[in-house]
Amino acid sequence: MQLRFRRTSSRSDRIDRSGAAVSARIDAAPEVPDADASGDDVGRRWNFEPGTEIYDGRTVFRALGGGSAYEVFLVWDEWLHALMVAKVLRPHRLDDERARRDMNREALVLERLAHPMIVRSFGADLSAEYPHILLEHLEGDTLRRLVKRYGRLSLEQLLPLALHVCSALQYLANQRLVHLDVKPANIVMSAPPRLIDLSIARSFDEAAALRVAIGTDGYMAPEQCVPGEGGTIGPPADVFGLGATLWHAASGTAPFRRDRGAGTSDDPAARWPQLVREPAPLPKDTPAHLVDVLRSMVAKDPSARPSANEVALALEPLVAELPTKIVVTRRGLRVR
Ligand SMILES: Nc1ncnc2c1ncn2[C@@H]1O[C@H](COP(=O)(O)OP(=O)(O)O)[C@@H](O)[C@H]1O
Ligand SMILES: [Mg+2]
Repeated sequence: MQLRFRRTSSRSDRIDRSGAAVSARIDAAPEVPDADASGDDVGRRWNFEPGTEIYDGRTVFRALGGGSAYEVFLVWDEWLHALMVAKVLRPHRLDDERARRDMNREALVLERLAHPMIVRSFGADLSAEYPHILLEHLEGDTLRRLVKRYGRLSLEQLLPLALHVCSALQYLANQRLVHLDVKPANIVMSAPPRLIDLSIARSFDEAAALRVAIGTDGYMAPEQCVPGEGGTIGPPADVFGLGATLWHAASGTAPFRRDRGAGTSDDPAARWPQLVREPAPLPKDTPAHLVDVLRSMVAKDPSARPSANEVALALEPLVAELPTKIVVTRRGLRVR
């Protein structure tokens, strides 16, 4: 593909900073797909040809994925002179006030965050022809794709992942933010792994005031599924999301699987089995201490869950037992 190199004289960064968008009460749930669906309905994709300039000096390489509201592209940014990622509002959402408000919120949230395990933003232009947020490009599969392709993670992979995401969640809690969508599709297994997709993140006050279910059904905390019942929505909701995510990574499948067709059920207990059911069993070789920690993370009562920091502390003894050395033996290389 021929990339065009042009001089760019200015960068614009058009985000509504009035705060209105951030404090706006959300009165309806955005559609959040169960997974990183590719959204292949006609009119929902931009169908950019490689080389299309979506913004001054910002050229499309290829599509990476996305959910119901956004399409994500690998782009070349001439100004930064680097491969980046553009998270673009889908065509059928351009006139959707709520989608624009959500995107503005995500841009503002990302702007104030700086953490080694959370994707970094490099600005946004929400009034451009193709409204988008510019992100650093993370190399690697999402955890969801990785598990789908290679099966469950080993302890050597799982425990460091848990500590890294705990670090990101503790930082978000320190920032008085709740991610609300921690799940395997929102973790990129780069080195170190990164938490992505702050599209439905809320401040503590906004999260506590939610009265509609937002998140991804299979990984949502019970208090997120039926807001107003079962406890305040806050950082423990993210600990639940991480618990369900690690459970998926440790076992190869989501812990709370609902019956066929229950996704559209009016019965909350059918739609969200985590309200009433215990998670599917973990593999027999899972260390008992890890089972205990994961169980505590997916406790139905948010006040019974450990904080992200407490999870990290609880996992440290297991991390200390991990093999650290590769040695040459008569039978070949061994990890000790
Ligand atoms: N910074 C990034 N680097 C690499 N891939 C990314 C990045 N951000 C998103 N993606 C890819 O795009 C998908 C959708 O992005 P995400 O932010 O989760 O949007 P959505 O809100 O539509 O779910 C992710 O699951 C991942 O595969
Ligand atoms: Mg996502």
